[in-house]
Amino acid sequence: MDLPAHEASRLIAVVTGRPPHAARKEDLTSRQSAALAALVARRLAGEPLQYLEGSAAFGPLEVAVDRRALIPRPETEGLWELAVAALGDAGPGTTIVDLGTGSGVLALALKHAFPAARVIGTDDRDDALALAAENAARLGLDVEFRCGDLFDALPGTLLGRLDLVVSNPPYVAEHEWDGLPVEVRGYEPRHALVAGPTGTEVLERIADDGYWWLGVGGYLLCEIGENQGPSMELAYGAFDRHIRRDLTGRDRYVVARKGSPCCV
Ligand SMILES: C[S@@+](CC[C@H](N)C(=O)[O-])C[C@H]1O[C@@H](n2cnc3c(N)ncnc32)[C@H](O)[C@@H]1O
Repeated sequence: MDLPAHEASRLIAVVTGRPPHAARKEDLTSRQSAALAALVARRLAGEPLQYLEGSAAFGPLEVAVDRRALIPRPETEGLWELAVAALGDAGPGTTIVDLGTGSGVLALALKHAFPAARVIGTDDRDDALALAAENAARLGLDVEFRCGDLFDALPGTLLGRLDLVVSNPPYVAEHEWDGLPVEVRGYEPRHALVAGPTGTEVLERIADDGYWWLGVGGYLLCEIGENQGPSMELAYGAFDRHIRRDLTGRDRYVVARKGSPCCV
């Protein structure tokens, strides 16, 4: 087996159903050994470990993942943390929207942080929304999922009334797709990653429409590509806004607020 030891023990855990620290190759039955060999072959071909395990950690949650949606990334946990700090508190009148929810992670983690708030996750792919709804049911989190193109998924009664909008939208440019690692390009949905010729198309639409959907004082936080900070300063010019960095020091988030100083 040519896998790093920590990956091998995680795959042994998949076939035995035991935690990785307690899963030993020596204890496998012949059926489990065959199942492990199949998983190792898929991993060596490039399939992401999380798809083979069928789950991924995100903040306080563990969610199911499969090829219907993007695997949640550590950078997106940073977006969740910023959003929690920005909103601070939320009562029953608070409405939070996650645009492009995929597996549902941001919407679910926000509902976990603000149980009294109404939380809506949207996506334009029914299969991703089905996965998000399965995750919500398993975690017992009451999140509403709606299908549609960005804000079109929302009821018109929410126009001008949203308190917090978060999004990790597609932000890869078409010409960058071929340069992505095979783990990403060969397995994750292209639609979840590629925005268009420049990569900033979806982020710009969220800025334009988001201004009208937010209430005064509402926050809009998006994940961005590391080279997109300067163009997002311009695109989010109607807001008080800041570009924030991820843990590796790269520009990664635009934090914007309508009609009030932006405090995170
Ligand atoms: C980068 S993935 C993020 C998934 C999830 N929020 C996360 O952070 O792991 C982007 C998601 O946006 C969805 N999406 C792409 N274009 C969209 C659009 N125009 N309207 C709604 N959803 C869209 C994709 O289907 C995908 O699930």
